[in-house]
Amino acid sequence: MADILQLARPELRELKPYSPGGYESGLVRLNANESPWRIPSDNTERGLNIYPPPRPLLLRRLLAEHYGVIEEKILVTRGSTEAIDLLIRGFCAAGKDQLLTCPPTFDMYRLYAGIQNAEVLEVPLLREKGFIIDPKSIVNRVTERTKIIFLCSPNNPTGQSIEHGDIEFICQAVQEKILVVLDEAYQEFSDKQDFSALEEKYENVLRLRTLSKFISLAGVRCGVVIAEPKLIDFLSCILPPYSFPTPSIELVLKAFDKRSLNIGKERVQVLCTERARLKKELMNINDVKKVWPSDANFIFVETLNAKNFQETARQANVLVRTFPDQPALKNFVRITVGRREDNNKLLQAF
Ligand SMILES: Cc1ncc(COP(=O)(O)O)c(C=O)c1O
Repeated sequence: MADILQLARPELRELKPYSPGGYESGLVRLNANESPWRIPSDNTERGLNIYPPPRPLLLRRLLAEHYGVIEEKILVTRGSTEAIDLLIRGFCAAGKDQLLTCPPTFDMYRLYAGIQNAEVLEVPLLREKGFIIDPKSIVNRVTERTKIIFLCSPNNPTGQSIEHGDIEFICQAVQEKILVVLDEAYQEFSDKQDFSALEEKYENVLRLRTLSKFISLAGVRCGVVIAEPKLIDFLSCILPPYSFPTPSIELVLKAFDKRSLNIGKERVQVLCTERARLKKELMNINDVKKVWPSDANFIFVETLNAKNFQETARQANVLVRTFPDQPALKNFVRITVGRREDNNKLLQAF
């Protein structure tokens, strides 16, 4: 098997990581140019006057346990969006390399590609077949300059999961040649299997997870890359030190106690039940043409007129997402599943 790191930008493979000042509990820290005093409102355990650990290792251990992998397979990032940026910068040389996406999908892949000046190849989802991916076209479309394929399952904004076999077909066809990034941001809302088996089987496959959705922590900005340890080491080398802040570390450590996790699981169940109810009710609304099945915490809806739909919702003080910049999604609306009373507010508007 060829070394998967050969795909990374050669100059980055040579990069020496930054070596941060040490920290040893009980020793006076005169090595990092920090302030010796806390501010009065600082109620963190570590103290905000000193830098966070260069990498949040305790958090990494906790997340490894949560996702059932060894610590060395985990990189903690500021939201999974930071991981997307990191992967594109790490593997795509500006003005030269390409990545592939399957629109309509999460728009940040395109945005970060643009920031890095990486070309985006698009193989659209097959709308006539219910917005599924087209594995053969994906494999035929890639070139020698393609470094990453982004696949999102369940997909944002269409809501559906990708078939395991379709992903495996791609992973197998491009192994040793291209990284396959499986974005599982909404996995907890799906009753389908995650792609851990593929990540374990293929060295070129990574998974992205986030705490922004299932466990009510969008505000702490915690994302997770799960991959081969050598890929994690490489990404860690290009991620600046101290990037994950102390308050976020401490909040996540507290939020992962058994009680909070159980509450998180119950709330996922509540949202899934609401998702089924909302879907059924939406289908009875005259302004709605079609409601797609969803494995995520939102529903993708084709309306007669997205602008009118959005306006009617707004008059009831409810915001929904439309896609005015994407002609193919002109009359589509994405509705996040909320609490029962929030969903009722929307339904009553129609
Ligand atoms: C598919 C997908 N991936 C990743 C993210 C980013 O999540 P975060 O940066 O909050 O971890 C989102 C956010 O909406 C998303 O929809």
